[in-house]
Amino acid sequence: LFIGMDLGTSAGKLLLMNENGEVYKTVSKQYAVSFPQRGWAEQNPEIWFQNIIEGLKELTANQEKDKIAGIGLSGQMHGLVLLDKEGKVIRPAILWNDGRAEEETDYLNREIGKERVAQYTGNIAFTGFTASKIRWLKKHEPENFSKICKIMLPKDYITFRLTGVFCTDFSDASGTLLFDVKNKRWSKEMMRICGISETMLPKPVESWEIVGELTKEICRELEISGTIKVVAGAGDNAAAAIGTGTVGNNRCNISLGTGGTIFISSDTFRMDEGYVLHSFAHADGKYHLMGCMLSAASCNKWWMESVLETENYGKEQKGIRHLGENKVMYLPYLMGERCPHNDPNARAAFVGMDMNTSRKEMTLAVMEGVAFGLRDSLEAARMTGVMPKRASICGGGAKSFLWRRIMANVMGMELDSMEQEEGPAYGAAILAATGCGSYANIKEAAEKLTKVKCTVVPETKLVDRYESQYIRFKELYPALKQFFD
Ligand code: XUL
Repeated sequence: LFIGMDLGTSAGKLLLMNENGEVYKTVSKQYAVSFPQRGWAEQNPEIWFQNIIEGLKELTANQEKDKIAGIGLSGQMHGLVLLDKEGKVIRPAILWNDGRAEEETDYLNREIGKERVAQYTGNIAFTGFTASKIRWLKKHEPENFSKICKIMLPKDYITFRLTGVFCTDFSDASGTLLFDVKNKRWSKEMMRICGISETMLPKPVESWEIVGELTKEICRELEISGTIKVVAGAGDNAAAAIGTGTVGNNRCNISLGTGGTIFISSDTFRMDEGYVLHSFAHADGKYHLMGCMLSAASCNKWWMESVLETENYGKEQKGIRHLGENKVMYLPYLMGERCPHNDPNARAAFVGMDMNTSRKEMTLAVMEGVAFGLRDSLEAARMTGVMPKRASICGGGAKSFLWRRIMANVMGMELDSMEQEEGPAYGAAILAATGCGSYANIKEAAEKLTKVKCTVVPETKLVDRYESQYIRFKELYPALKQFFD
Protein backbone atom coordinates (compact mmCIF):
# COMPACT_ATOMS: atom_id res chain seq x y z
CA LEU A 1 0.00 0.00 0.00
CA PHE A 2 1.06 3.56 -0.61
CA ILE A 3 0.11 6.89 0.96
CA GLY A 4 -0.07 10.11 -1.05
CA MET A 5 -0.35 13.41 0.82
CA ASP A 6 -0.92 16.89 -0.52
CA LEU A 7 -0.17 19.84 1.75
CA GLY A 8 -2.57 22.24 0.04
CA THR A 9 -3.31 25.86 0.88
CA SER A 10 -6.81 25.23 2.22
CA ALA A 11 -6.37 21.63 3.43
CA GLY A 12 -4.06 18.66 3.81
CA LYS A 13 -5.38 15.81 1.66
CA LEU A 14 -4.28 12.22 2.19
CA LEU A 15 -5.06 8.98 0.41
CA LEU A 16 -4.24 5.31 0.73
CA MET A 17 -4.00 3.17 -2.42
CA ASN A 18 -2.70 -0.19 -3.53
CA GLU A 19 -0.10 -0.61 -6.26
CA ASN A 20 -2.83 -0.86 -8.91
CA GLY A 21 -4.00 2.61 -8.01
CA GLU A 22 -7.19 1.52 -6.23
CA VAL A 23 -7.91 4.17 -3.62
CA TYR A 24 -9.08 2.65 -0.32
CA LYS A 25 -9.53 5.76 1.72
CA THR A 26 -9.14 9.53 1.58
CA VAL A 27 -8.96 12.07 4.40
CA SER A 28 -9.03 15.86 4.23
CA LYS A 29 -8.00 18.21 7.05
CA GLN A 30 -8.93 21.84 6.56
CA TYR A 31 -6.87 24.73 7.90
CA ALA A 32 -6.94 28.50 7.47
CA VAL A 33 -4.69 31.04 5.79
CA SER A 34 -3.97 34.24 7.70
CA PHE A 35 -3.82 37.53 5.83
CA PRO A 36 -1.98 39.76 8.35
CA GLN A 37 -1.88 42.71 5.92
CA ARG A 38 -3.41 43.47 2.52
CA GLY A 39 -1.74 41.16 0.00
CA TRP A 40 0.12 39.09 2.62
CA ALA A 41 -0.54 35.36 3.23
CA GLU A 42 0.93 33.19 5.97
CA GLN A 43 0.46 29.80 7.63
CA ASN A 44 2.01 28.20 10.69
CA PRO A 45 4.05 25.10 9.72
CA GLU A 46 3.24 23.48 13.07
CA ILE A 47 -0.47 23.55 12.13
CA TRP A 48 0.40 21.81 8.84
CA PHE A 49 2.29 19.13 10.70
CA GLN A 50 -0.43 18.55 13.33
CA ASN A 51 -3.04 18.21 10.58
CA ILE A 52 -0.88 15.79 8.61
CA ILE A 53 -0.29 13.62 11.71
CA GLU A 54 -4.01 13.66 12.56
CA GLY A 55 -4.76 12.89 8.91
CA LEU A 56 -2.31 9.97 8.92
CA LYS A 57 -3.92 8.57 12.07
CA GLU A 58 -7.38 8.75 10.50
CA LEU A 59 -6.18 7.39 7.18
CA THR A 60 -4.40 4.36 8.63
CA ALA A 61 -7.01 3.51 11.30
CA ASN A 62 -8.47 0.03 10.64
CA GLN A 63 -6.21 -0.48 7.62
CA GLU A 64 -3.50 -3.10 7.12
CA LYS A 65 -0.73 -0.88 8.42
CA ASP A 66 2.02 -3.47 7.99
CA LYS A 67 1.34 -3.45 4.24
CA ILE A 68 2.12 0.27 3.87
CA ALA A 69 5.40 0.43 1.95
CA GLY A 70 5.86 4.07 1.05
CA ILE A 71 4.70 7.65 1.34
CA GLY A 72 4.88 10.42 -1.27
CA LEU A 73 4.31 14.09 -0.55
CA SER A 74 3.13 16.99 -2.62
CA GLY A 75 2.54 20.54 -1.49
CA GLN A 76 1.87 24.18 -2.20
CA MET A 77 5.00 25.56 -3.84
CA HIS A 78 7.29 28.56 -3.13
CA GLY A 79 6.42 28.89 0.61
CA LEU A 80 9.27 30.21 2.75
CA VAL A 81 9.76 27.99 5.81
CA LEU A 82 12.72 28.94 8.01
CA LEU A 83 14.34 26.87 10.74
CA ASP A 84 16.95 27.95 13.31
CA LYS A 85 19.89 25.86 14.47
CA GLU A 86 17.69 23.97 16.95
CA GLY A 87 15.40 22.96 14.12
CA LYS A 88 12.63 25.32 15.34
CA VAL A 89 10.45 27.33 12.94
CA ILE A 90 11.59 30.98 13.09
CA ARG A 91 8.39 32.72 11.86
CA PRO A 92 5.15 31.79 10.07
CA ALA A 93 5.66 30.54 6.52
CA ILE A 94 5.25 33.22 3.83
CA LEU A 95 3.08 31.62 1.15
CA TRP A 96 3.15 31.42 -2.67
CA ASN A 97 0.38 34.03 -3.02
CA ASP A 98 1.98 36.60 -0.72
CA GLY A 99 2.68 39.92 -2.45
CA ARG A 100 4.83 41.75 0.11
CA ALA A 101 8.16 41.36 -1.71
CA GLU A 102 7.34 43.85 -4.44
CA GLU A 103 10.46 46.00 -4.03
CA GLU A 104 12.69 42.93 -3.90
CA THR A 105 11.06 41.51 -7.03
CA ASP A 106 11.60 44.81 -8.82
CA TYR A 107 15.23 44.81 -7.69
CA LEU A 108 15.78 41.33 -9.14
CA ASN A 109 13.97 42.03 -12.42
CA ARG A 110 15.23 45.59 -12.95
CA GLU A 111 18.58 46.02 -11.16
CA ILE A 112 19.96 42.52 -11.63
CA GLY A 113 17.81 42.28 -14.75
CA LYS A 114 15.29 39.75 -16.03
CA GLU A 115 17.76 38.33 -18.56
CA ARG A 116 20.41 37.60 -15.94
CA VAL A 117 17.99 36.18 -13.39
CA ALA A 118 16.51 34.01 -16.14
CA GLN A 119 19.98 32.94 -17.20
CA TYR A 120 20.77 31.86 -13.60
CA THR A 121 17.46 30.14 -12.88
CA GLY A 122 15.31 29.75 -16.02
CA ASN A 123 12.76 32.21 -14.60
CA ILE A 124 12.26 35.86 -13.74
CA ALA A 125 11.30 37.03 -10.24
CA PHE A 126 7.73 37.10 -8.90
CA THR A 127 6.73 38.29 -5.43
CA GLY A 128 5.67 34.82 -4.25
CA PHE A 129 8.91 33.12 -5.27
CA THR A 130 11.14 32.14 -2.36
CA ALA A 131 14.21 34.24 -3.29
CA SER A 132 12.23 37.51 -3.41
CA LYS A 133 10.83 36.75 0.05
CA ILE A 134 14.28 35.92 1.47
CA ARG A 135 15.49 39.35 0.35
CA TRP A 136 12.37 40.91 1.96
CA LEU A 137 13.16 39.13 5.23
CA LYS A 138 16.78 40.28 5.15
CA LYS A 139 15.63 43.90 4.93
CA HIS A 140 12.55 43.88 7.17
CA GLU A 141 13.32 41.19 9.75
CA PRO A 142 17.14 41.12 10.01
CA GLU A 143 17.01 39.34 13.36
CA ASN A 144 15.00 36.48 11.91
CA PHE A 145 17.27 36.44 8.87
CA SER A 146 20.35 36.06 11.08
CA LYS A 147 18.81 32.98 12.75
CA ILE A 148 18.35 31.05 9.48
CA CYS A 149 19.96 27.63 9.50
CA LYS A 150 17.63 25.81 7.07
CA ILE A 151 15.38 27.11 4.27
CA MET A 152 12.57 24.76 3.30
CA LEU A 153 9.55 24.43 1.07
CA PRO A 154 6.24 23.50 2.74
CA LYS A 155 6.10 19.79 1.86
CA ASP A 156 9.84 19.44 2.68
CA TYR A 157 9.16 20.67 6.19
CA ILE A 158 6.70 17.78 6.58
CA THR A 159 9.32 15.34 5.19
CA PHE A 160 11.82 16.79 7.67
CA ARG A 161 9.45 16.23 10.60
CA LEU A 162 8.50 12.74 9.41
CA THR A 163 12.01 11.48 8.60
CA GLY A 164 14.59 13.94 9.96
CA VAL A 165 15.95 14.30 6.40
CA PHE A 166 16.59 17.75 4.88
CA CYS A 167 15.86 17.44 1.16
CA THR A 168 13.68 18.68 -1.68
CA ASP A 169 12.86 17.60 -5.21
CA PHE A 170 13.66 19.27 -8.53
CA SER A 171 10.09 20.39 -9.31
CA ASP A 172 9.61 22.22 -5.99
CA ALA A 173 13.20 23.56 -5.97
CA SER A 174 12.36 25.15 -9.35
CA GLY A 175 9.94 27.57 -7.69
CA THR A 176 12.50 29.03 -5.29
CA LEU A 177 14.29 31.17 -7.93
CA LEU A 178 17.45 29.88 -6.24
CA PHE A 179 17.63 26.86 -8.54
CA ASP A 180 19.23 26.55 -11.96
CA VAL A 181 16.30 24.60 -13.42
CA LYS A 182 17.92 23.57 -16.69
CA ASN A 183 20.98 22.08 -14.99
CA LYS A 184 19.11 20.97 -11.86
CA ARG A 185 21.44 22.48 -9.25
CA TRP A 186 21.36 25.41 -6.81
CA SER A 187 22.44 28.68 -8.42
CA LYS A 188 25.57 30.12 -6.81
CA GLU A 189 24.73 33.56 -8.22
CA MET A 190 21.24 33.59 -6.72
CA MET A 191 22.51 32.37 -3.35
CA ARG A 192 25.00 35.25 -3.38
CA ILE A 193 22.30 37.77 -4.34
CA CYS A 194 20.13 36.54 -1.45
CA GLY A 195 22.99 36.39 1.07
CA ILE A 196 22.57 32.68 1.85
CA SER A 197 24.78 29.61 1.55
CA GLU A 198 24.16 26.16 0.07
CA THR A 199 24.31 24.55 3.54
CA MET A 200 21.01 26.33 4.27
CA LEU A 201 19.35 24.68 1.27
CA PRO A 202 17.96 21.15 1.09
CA LYS A 203 19.55 18.47 -1.07
CA PRO A 204 17.59 18.38 -4.36
CA VAL A 205 16.78 14.97 -5.87
CA GLU A 206 14.33 13.39 -8.35
CA SER A 207 10.75 13.18 -7.08
CA TRP A 208 10.55 9.39 -6.89
CA GLU A 209 13.85 8.94 -5.01
CA ILE A 210 13.60 7.43 -1.55
CA VAL A 211 14.97 10.01 0.87
CA GLY A 212 14.34 8.36 4.24
CA GLU A 213 12.00 6.39 6.48
CA LEU A 214 9.34 7.41 8.98
CA THR A 215 11.08 7.95 12.33
CA LYS A 216 10.53 5.46 15.14
CA GLU A 217 8.60 8.09 17.15
CA ILE A 218 6.16 8.76 14.32
CA CYS A 219 5.72 5.00 13.71
CA ARG A 220 4.97 4.57 17.40
CA GLU A 221 2.43 7.40 17.33
CA LEU A 222 0.73 5.83 14.31
CA GLU A 223 1.03 2.32 15.79
CA ILE A 224 3.02 1.09 12.84
CA SER A 225 5.54 -1.68 13.43
CA GLY A 226 7.30 -1.96 10.04
CA THR A 227 9.44 0.54 8.16
CA ILE A 228 7.84 3.00 5.74
CA LYS A 229 9.91 4.62 3.03
CA VAL A 230 9.38 8.27 2.11
CA VAL A 231 10.12 9.57 -1.40
CA ALA A 232 11.06 13.19 -2.16
CA GLY A 233 7.65 13.99 -3.71
CA ALA A 234 6.86 17.05 -5.82
CA GLY A 235 5.38 20.54 -5.94
CA ASP A 236 1.59 20.29 -6.10
CA ASN A 237 1.36 21.12 -9.80
CA ALA A 238 3.94 18.54 -10.88
CA ALA A 239 2.30 15.98 -8.59
CA ALA A 240 -1.14 16.80 -10.04
CA ALA A 241 0.30 16.34 -13.51
CA ILE A 242 1.54 12.85 -12.57
CA GLY A 243 -1.83 12.10 -10.97
CA THR A 244 -3.67 13.05 -14.16
CA GLY A 245 -1.24 11.26 -16.50
CA THR A 246 0.30 14.52 -17.80
CA VAL A 247 3.70 13.07 -18.70
CA GLY A 248 5.60 13.01 -22.00
CA ASN A 249 5.86 15.87 -24.46
CA ASN A 250 3.22 18.61 -24.80
CA ARG A 251 0.55 17.16 -22.53
CA CYS A 252 -1.57 19.62 -20.60
CA ASN A 253 -3.22 19.74 -17.18
CA ILE A 254 -5.35 22.51 -15.75
CA SER A 255 -5.78 22.87 -12.02
CA LEU A 256 -8.56 24.87 -10.39
CA GLY A 257 -7.41 24.96 -6.77
CA THR A 258 -7.03 27.98 -4.46
CA GLY A 259 -4.82 29.26 -7.30
CA GLY A 260 -5.16 28.11 -10.91
CA THR A 261 -2.53 26.68 -13.20
CA ILE A 262 -2.06 25.49 -16.72
CA PHE A 263 0.77 22.96 -16.91
CA ILE A 264 2.40 21.78 -20.14
CA SER A 265 4.88 18.91 -19.95
CA SER A 266 7.99 18.98 -22.07
CA ASP A 267 10.83 16.56 -22.81
CA THR A 268 13.29 19.44 -22.97
CA PHE A 269 13.91 22.63 -21.02
CA ARG A 270 12.04 25.57 -22.62
CA MET A 271 11.29 29.19 -21.79
CA ASP A 272 8.76 31.60 -23.28
CA GLU A 273 10.28 34.75 -24.69
CA GLY A 274 7.90 37.10 -22.90
CA TYR A 275 8.77 35.59 -19.47
CA VAL A 276 5.06 35.14 -18.77
CA LEU A 277 5.27 31.44 -17.92
CA HIS A 278 7.36 29.49 -15.41
CA SER A 279 9.98 27.02 -16.68
CA PHE A 280 10.21 24.33 -14.03
CA ALA A 281 11.39 20.72 -13.68
CA HIS A 282 8.68 18.04 -13.86
CA ALA A 283 8.38 15.14 -11.45
CA ASP A 284 8.91 12.61 -14.25
CA GLY A 285 12.56 13.63 -14.67
CA LYS A 286 11.84 16.15 -17.47
CA TYR A 287 10.49 19.72 -17.55
CA HIS A 288 7.32 21.77 -17.91
CA LEU A 289 6.00 25.23 -18.71
CA MET A 290 3.36 26.63 -16.38
CA GLY A 291 1.12 29.64 -16.06
CA CYS A 292 -0.17 30.39 -12.55
CA MET A 293 -2.98 32.65 -11.42
CA LEU A 294 -3.06 33.47 -7.72
CA SER A 295 -6.83 33.39 -7.16
CA ALA A 296 -8.89 30.76 -8.96
CA ALA A 297 -11.24 28.61 -6.85
CA SER A 298 -10.53 31.11 -4.07
CA CYS A 299 -12.45 33.74 -6.11
CA ASN A 300 -15.46 31.47 -6.03
CA LYS A 301 -14.99 30.72 -2.33
CA TRP A 302 -14.71 34.45 -1.57
CA TRP A 303 -17.81 35.23 -3.65
CA MET A 304 -19.89 32.39 -2.18
CA GLU A 305 -18.77 32.38 1.44
CA SER A 306 -17.67 35.93 2.21
CA VAL A 307 -20.05 37.88 -0.01
CA LEU A 308 -23.15 35.71 -0.54
CA GLU A 309 -22.61 34.05 2.86
CA THR A 310 -23.51 30.57 1.65
CA GLU A 311 -21.72 27.27 1.35
CA ASN A 312 -24.29 25.89 -1.05
CA TYR A 313 -22.32 26.43 -4.27
CA GLY A 314 -24.55 23.98 -6.16
CA LYS A 315 -27.71 25.99 -5.42
CA GLU A 316 -26.05 29.25 -6.53
CA GLN A 317 -24.84 27.70 -9.80
CA LYS A 318 -28.08 25.84 -10.57
CA GLY A 319 -30.06 27.27 -13.45
CA ILE A 320 -27.23 29.42 -14.80
CA ARG A 321 -27.73 29.64 -18.55
CA HIS A 322 -26.72 32.02 -21.36
CA LEU A 323 -23.02 31.18 -21.25
CA GLY A 324 -20.93 33.64 -23.19
CA GLU A 325 -23.66 36.33 -23.09
CA ASN A 326 -22.96 37.78 -19.68
CA LYS A 327 -22.91 41.59 -19.54
CA VAL A 328 -21.02 41.46 -16.24
CA MET A 329 -17.27 40.86 -16.27
CA TYR A 330 -15.04 40.00 -13.34
CA LEU A 331 -11.32 40.59 -12.95
CA PRO A 332 -10.04 37.75 -10.74
CA TYR A 333 -7.08 39.40 -8.99
CA LEU A 334 -7.98 39.22 -5.29
CA MET A 335 -4.34 38.71 -4.28
CA GLY A 336 -2.59 40.51 -7.17
CA GLU A 337 -1.64 38.41 -10.18
CA ARG A 338 1.35 36.31 -11.21
CA CYS A 339 0.80 35.30 -14.88
CA PRO A 340 0.57 37.24 -17.14
CA HIS A 341 0.81 40.59 -15.27
CA ASN A 342 3.40 39.96 -12.53
CA ASP A 343 1.62 42.63 -10.49
CA PRO A 344 1.14 42.16 -6.72
CA ASN A 345 -1.03 45.31 -6.58
CA ALA A 346 -3.66 44.20 -9.10
CA ARG A 347 -7.07 43.70 -7.47
CA ALA A 348 -10.44 42.21 -8.34
CA ALA A 349 -13.31 44.12 -9.96
CA PHE A 350 -16.82 43.61 -11.28
CA VAL A 351 -17.68 45.67 -14.34
CA GLY A 352 -20.88 46.16 -16.32
CA MET A 353 -23.75 45.69 -13.85
CA ASP A 354 -27.10 47.37 -14.48
CA MET A 355 -30.46 47.55 -12.67
CA ASN A 356 -31.39 44.09 -13.97
CA THR A 357 -28.14 42.34 -13.03
CA SER A 358 -28.83 39.22 -11.02
CA ARG A 359 -26.89 37.28 -8.42
CA LYS A 360 -26.56 34.42 -10.92
CA GLU A 361 -24.95 36.68 -13.53
CA MET A 362 -22.37 37.76 -10.97
CA THR A 363 -21.73 34.16 -9.94
CA LEU A 364 -21.23 33.29 -13.61
CA ALA A 365 -18.95 36.30 -14.10
CA VAL A 366 -16.64 35.05 -11.31
CA MET A 367 -16.24 31.64 -12.97
CA GLU A 368 -15.78 33.21 -16.40
CA GLY A 369 -13.22 35.73 -15.10
CA VAL A 370 -11.07 32.90 -13.71
CA ALA A 371 -11.33 31.03 -17.02
CA PHE A 372 -10.24 34.14 -18.95
CA GLY A 373 -7.34 34.61 -16.52
CA LEU A 374 -6.09 31.10 -17.29
CA ARG A 375 -6.68 31.67 -21.01
CA ASP A 376 -4.03 34.44 -20.77
CA SER A 377 -1.44 31.80 -19.82
CA LEU A 378 -2.66 29.46 -22.56
CA GLU A 379 -2.09 32.29 -25.05
CA ALA A 380 1.49 32.72 -23.77
CA ALA A 381 2.05 28.97 -24.23
CA ARG A 382 0.63 29.17 -27.76
CA MET A 383 3.17 31.92 -28.53
CA THR A 384 5.92 29.39 -27.79
CA GLY A 385 4.41 27.10 -30.43
CA VAL A 386 2.62 24.76 -28.02
CA MET A 387 -0.93 24.11 -29.21
CA PRO A 388 -2.58 21.68 -26.82
CA LYS A 389 -5.99 20.51 -28.12
CA ARG A 390 -7.04 18.81 -24.94
CA ALA A 391 -6.16 18.86 -21.28
CA SER A 392 -7.01 17.09 -18.07
CA ILE A 393 -8.61 19.20 -15.36
CA CYS A 394 -8.40 18.75 -11.58
CA GLY A 395 -8.71 20.65 -8.31
CA GLY A 396 -11.71 21.57 -6.14
CA GLY A 397 -13.18 23.99 -8.71
CA ALA A 398 -13.21 21.28 -11.39
CA LYS A 399 -15.91 19.38 -9.47
CA SER A 400 -18.42 21.86 -10.90
CA PHE A 401 -19.67 20.74 -14.33
CA LEU A 402 -20.67 24.33 -15.10
CA TRP A 403 -17.13 25.58 -14.47
CA ARG A 404 -15.63 22.77 -16.57
CA ARG A 405 -17.99 23.67 -19.41
CA ILE A 406 -17.02 27.34 -19.19
CA MET A 407 -13.33 26.39 -19.10
CA ALA A 408 -13.62 24.05 -22.11
CA ASN A 409 -15.29 26.77 -24.18
CA VAL A 410 -13.04 29.65 -23.08
CA MET A 411 -9.94 27.55 -23.75
CA GLY A 412 -11.37 25.88 -26.88
CA MET A 413 -10.08 22.56 -25.59
CA GLU A 414 -11.51 19.16 -24.70
CA LEU A 415 -11.21 18.75 -20.93
CA ASP A 416 -10.83 15.32 -19.36
CA SER A 417 -11.78 14.61 -15.75
CA MET A 418 -9.95 11.64 -14.31
CA GLU A 419 -11.28 8.64 -12.37
CA GLN A 420 -9.14 9.65 -9.40
CA GLU A 421 -10.06 13.19 -8.47
CA GLU A 422 -7.28 13.69 -5.92
CA GLY A 423 -4.75 14.99 -8.50
CA PRO A 424 -1.72 15.97 -6.36
CA ALA A 425 -2.17 13.39 -3.56
CA TYR A 426 -2.74 10.66 -6.15
CA GLY A 427 0.36 11.79 -8.06
CA ALA A 428 2.35 11.74 -4.83
CA ALA A 429 1.21 8.15 -4.16
CA ILE A 430 2.30 7.21 -7.72
CA LEU A 431 5.73 8.70 -6.97
CA ALA A 432 5.92 6.53 -3.83
CA ALA A 433 4.85 3.40 -5.74
CA THR A 434 7.51 4.02 -8.39
CA GLY A 435 10.22 4.84 -5.83
CA CYS A 436 9.42 1.63 -3.98
CA GLY A 437 9.86 -0.41 -7.16
CA SER A 438 6.29 -1.22 -8.24
CA TYR A 439 6.91 0.51 -11.59
CA ALA A 440 10.01 0.94 -13.76
CA ASN A 441 9.52 4.68 -14.14
CA ILE A 442 7.00 7.49 -13.65
CA LYS A 443 5.79 7.45 -17.25
CA GLU A 444 4.88 3.76 -17.03
CA ALA A 445 3.21 4.24 -13.63
CA ALA A 446 1.25 7.34 -14.67
CA GLU A 447 0.07 5.75 -17.91
CA LYS A 448 -1.07 2.57 -16.15
CA LEU A 449 -2.68 4.25 -13.17
CA THR A 450 -4.63 7.14 -14.71
CA LYS A 451 -7.91 6.82 -16.55
CA VAL A 452 -10.25 9.41 -18.07
CA LYS A 453 -13.72 9.38 -16.47
CA CYS A 454 -15.49 11.92 -18.67
CA THR A 455 -14.75 14.67 -21.16
CA VAL A 456 -16.30 18.08 -21.76
CA VAL A 457 -16.17 19.00 -25.44
CA PRO A 458 -16.21 22.66 -26.54
CA GLU A 459 -19.31 23.82 -28.46
CA THR A 460 -18.62 25.96 -31.56
CA LYS A 461 -21.29 28.56 -30.72
CA LEU A 462 -19.97 29.04 -27.19
CA VAL A 463 -16.33 29.09 -28.28
CA ASP A 464 -17.18 31.96 -30.64
CA ARG A 465 -19.10 33.89 -28.02
CA TYR A 466 -16.33 33.48 -25.46
CA GLU A 467 -13.75 34.52 -28.03
CA SER A 468 -15.36 37.98 -28.29
CA GLN A 469 -15.76 38.16 -24.52
CA TYR A 470 -12.11 37.26 -24.01
CA ILE A 471 -11.09 40.16 -26.26
CA ARG A 472 -13.11 42.48 -23.98
CA PHE A 473 -11.64 40.87 -20.86
CA LYS A 474 -8.10 41.57 -22.06
CA GLU A 475 -8.91 45.30 -22.11
CA LEU A 476 -9.99 45.33 -18.46
CA TYR A 477 -6.68 45.08 -16.61
CA PRO A 478 -4.86 47.81 -18.59
CA ALA A 479 -7.90 50.08 -18.23
CA LEU A 480 -8.17 49.58 -14.45
CA LYS A 481 -4.47 49.37 -13.60
CA GLN A 482 -4.29 53.03 -12.59
CA PHE A 483 -6.65 52.32 -9.67
CA PHE A 484 -4.54 49.51 -8.25
CA ASP A 485 -1.19 51.20 -7.62
C1 XUL B 1 2.50 27.51 -8.62
C2 XUL B 1 1.83 28.10 -7.43
C3 XUL B 1 0.60 27.48 -6.89
C4 XUL B 1 0.94 26.81 -5.56
C5 XUL B 1 -0.25 26.48 -4.72
O1 XUL B 1 3.56 28.26 -9.09
O2 XUL B 1 2.27 29.07 -6.89
O3 XUL B 1 -0.01 26.61 -7.76
O4 XUL B 1 1.76 25.72 -5.78
O5 XUL B 1 -1.02 25.51 -5.17
